[in-house]
This record gives sequence, structure tokens and C-alpha cells, in this order.
Amino acid sequence: MTILEAHNITKSFGSAKVLNRVSLSLEEGESLAIIGPSGGGKSTLLRCLNFLERMDTGRISVRGEVLYDSEVPGSEDGLREKRLHFGLVFQSFHLFPQYTALKNITLARELLVKKQPSYKDRKTELLEQIRSDGLALLEQVGLSAKKDAYPHELSGGQQQRVAIARALALNPDILCFDEPTSALDPELTGEVLRVIRSLAEKNTTMIIVTHEMQFARQVADKVVFLDDGAVLEYGVPQEVFEPPLSERMQRFLSHYTDQNL
Ligand SMILES: Nc1ncnc2c1ncn2[C@@H]1O[C@H](COP(=O)(O)OP(=O)(O)OP(=O)(O)O)[C@@H](O)[C@H]1O
Ligand SMILES: [Mg+2]
Repeated sequence: MTILEAHNITKSFGSAKVLNRVSLSLEEGESLAIIGPSGGGKSTLLRCLNFLERMDTGRISVRGEVLYDSEVPGSEDGLREKRLHFGLVFQSFHLFPQYTALKNITLARELLVKKQPSYKDRKTELLEQIRSDGLALLEQVGLSAKKDAYPHELSGGQQQRVAIARALALNPDILCFDEPTSALDPELTGEVLRVIRSLAEKNTTMIIVTHEMQFARQVADKVVFLDDGAVLEYGVPQEVFEPPLSERMQRFLSHYTDQNL
């Protein structure tokens, strides 16, 4: 089943066209890596998909439901709810410093559940469920022992794993990562990539902006190569990474050592 369809996304900042008619689609359980040179528009694309940035033109559908269509007036209504289709993990982890690892994970759901009409009557039961789901997520990212730790007591890699668990807590249709490891040293990068790889093995639907070519190649089901706001390559990794490579792709990959490919 097609989870995400993005059609003809265009975005300019002032006179600079940053995304130029970008289209892509994602099947349920697939992971898509977005690669490309710095400034090529990867983060902007992810932000447009998540409605953190308003696209100039384009259409986004999730599970066949049109969430936004620049040609349909009023389709920007209710973006806050529409955003819930997407989970987000950024390069810098953005955890709430005043809350423990577990609280960082459970907080958003606790706030949402309070809006339910039945909250008053079922408070204990609902909060207990959220807590036990939060503990299960911490276990999934290998951090059960750190449930009561505050962000400053965690390594960068651990913080990022909490951020991943937090993004998963709202059960998004699509989990989006923007360079989740680029603030980490190689050892910590490995532990975060292992978590993302295990999510891919569980068929979590994901979009990952990454400079880790080896990871994109091995883990992603599909790869988009974005350069100067346009999709220059789009396909399974074997197609995108194996010769014959386009001249632009060759030039891009030449910046990586063999070890990193
Ligand atoms: N809010 C903004 N206002 C103006 N220009 C912006 C804004 N955000 C991004 N840009 C420009 O859009 C272009 C694409 O930026 P973007 O951050 O999407 O690139 P990227 O592919 O994510 O790069 P990197 O690999 O360095 O993260 C760049 O030229 C950038 O300067
Ligand atoms: Mg970026």
C-alpha cells in the first residue's frame, strides 16, 4: 500500500528556487534515503513533507488522503493534526532538558490523552498504558536502564535514541530523520544506525536524510538523489549506486572514500 505520495513540490526562498517539481512515493514498510550535496534541498524537502515549511506548489497524500494541495483553498487547515502522520528526528536531538528520558517519550501522548472526553474517568488506566508503552520503546532502543536519566546525563547517541523513541511514541505513519547521526562521533553513530536499521528490519516506514552512503545503500529500499532542488536519481540502491553512474552522481560519490561507500 502506498503510504506517502508527494507530487510536484516546489519551494522558493525569495528568488532562490530550492525545490523544483519534486515527486516521490513511499510504500508501507519501506525506507527511503534522501542523499545529495549540501544545500541541495534535502532538509527543505523533509520540512515541506512535514508541513514545517509551506511549499509553494505541490500535493501531499498519506494513505490516499490528500493532506495538502496547493491548488485547493483551505487545505492548509488543521496542519497540526496532519503533522501527527509524521514523526521527526533531527540532527540535534531537541530533547526537553527538564524531563527524564521516559517523560520525554510519554509527554506528548499524555498531553493528547488529556483532551479525550473519557480522560477523567480512566486517568489512571490511560496513564499507566502510556507509561508501559514508553518503557517498551526505551527497551526497543536499548535504554531501559536510563529511564530516569535526564538528557544532560546521557551521551549524544543515547539522547538520539531517546529522540527516536519519542518520535515513535505517537505511532506515526512515517518516521522522518534529518541527518540523525551527523552530530555524533563514529562510535555513537554506529549505535544510532543500529537502532534505525532494526526499525527498517521491522518494516517501519521511514524517510532518512543522510550523508552515510554505506547506510543508505545497505538499509534503504529506495534512494533519492537530490541536487539543486531536483531529483536526479530515484530508485532502488542497486540502480542508484551501481555503475553506470550518471556524471553528477559520480561527482557526488567521488567525495567519499571507498571505505565509506
Ligand atoms: N529558511 C530559509 N530561508 C532562506 N533560504 C533557505 C532557508 N532554508 C534553506 N534555505 C536555502 O535553501 C537551500 C537548501 O537548503 P537545505 O537546508 O534544504 O539543504 P540540505 O540539502 O539539507 O543541505 P545540508 O546537507 O547542508 O543539510 C540552501 O541554499 C539554503 O541556504
Ligand atoms: Mg539539511
